[in-house]
Amino acid sequence: MKVQQKNTKAGDYPSLWWDEERKIIKVIDQRRLPFLFEIFEARTLNEVAFAIKEMVVRGAPLIGITAAFGMVLAAQQSANTSREVFVKKLKEAKNILLKTRPTAVDLFNNLEIMQKTIDVNRTNRENIQQLKLQAKKLLEATLSECKKIGEVGAELFTLKTKSVLTYCNAGALATVDYGTALAPIREAHKRGKRFTVFVPETRPRLQGGRLTAWELANEGIDHLIITDNAIGHYLKKGVIDLVIVGADRITVNGDVANKIGTYTISVLCKEHHVPFFVAAPLSTFDLQTKKGEEIIIEERSEEEVRTVLCVESSKDQKPKRRLIHNPNSPNKNPAFDVTPAENITGIITAKGILRQPLKKKIAKLFNPQ
Ligand code: MRU
Repeated sequence: MKVQQKNTKAGDYPSLWWDEERKIIKVIDQRRLPFLFEIFEARTLNEVAFAIKEMVVRGAPLIGITAAFGMVLAAQQSANTSREVFVKKLKEAKNILLKTRPTAVDLFNNLEIMQKTIDVNRTNRENIQQLKLQAKKLLEATLSECKKIGEVGAELFTLKTKSVLTYCNAGALATVDYGTALAPIREAHKRGKRFTVFVPETRPRLQGGRLTAWELANEGIDHLIITDNAIGHYLKKGVIDLVIVGADRITVNGDVANKIGTYTISVLCKEHHVPFFVAAPLSTFDLQTKKGEEIIIEERSEEEVRTVLCVESSKDQKPKRRLIHNPNSPNKNPAFDVTPAENITGIITAKGILRQPLKKKIAKLFNPQ
């Protein structure tokens, strides 16, 4: 991801990387972007748990990768214990990480893989090495899958595609680079296609207006921020040719959990005959859960709805939380919703686009004969 930001060295930053010298992870802190570009260092298991919970990092694939490295840090912290204590500490670490955010399945899938990497017959030092290798492998797999999702999804852009709508942030920030929903957009742009990306704000945390818009601006891709309420208006007018969103969890039957508001967009797309695509890596598929109703939807704080993070002008680098509602009115803040499989035109994966019937195509993707 190309990051051009005042007061930082312009250059290429992935959203997360391993610092081999200090044996820690570094991530782009997404809490105050685009007003403030800061690098957050996670040196311990607790700092990783904090980073996921407080959304220093966010987006399903990145949450999963961060958690994998959280296990490496936990292992390093227990290096000088007996093998028995080491294994017990890592079980505890896994449980702490599992409780950070409930909806994105990449977290659960990756922690399961990390757990399986631990072998009681190895020394702690060997186990740490293996855990680190595994976390790096997961990171590399996400990177190459996202790149491929870009190539596969770019085929959806024809000469007639003048506009595409994406939602929340399923970009490089939400993965490690490229993104899922943003990868085809990036790739189509790179191939010379010209179109406008509609970017709904994505209340309450404004991942669209803050993060997706920031990524697109950094890449010089034409985009327009719209309010979430304007989505129906533009779909009805026939202004939007294509919709591509990310996913936090895809169940066996093809139902998709994604940022709250995604379901509404899918219904509007159905009504107005606009193709609605989901882009996701394999780590976002949940083969243990049959259908969307079984997914736990994260409820976040009232504070996120009652306030917004803002600055007074583009020169101001000290974002503040400001009250925007009647102060003592209660509110509700579900972070995700579920889009039923039947509303989805296709799922863009690194192995191709899965089209209806999704249940059958998902089964085939994981069990090719
Ligand atoms: O609450 P967030 O910001 O973690 O939610 C992110 C989303 O809903 C994304 O669309 C999803 O994780 C896919 S990211 C490639």
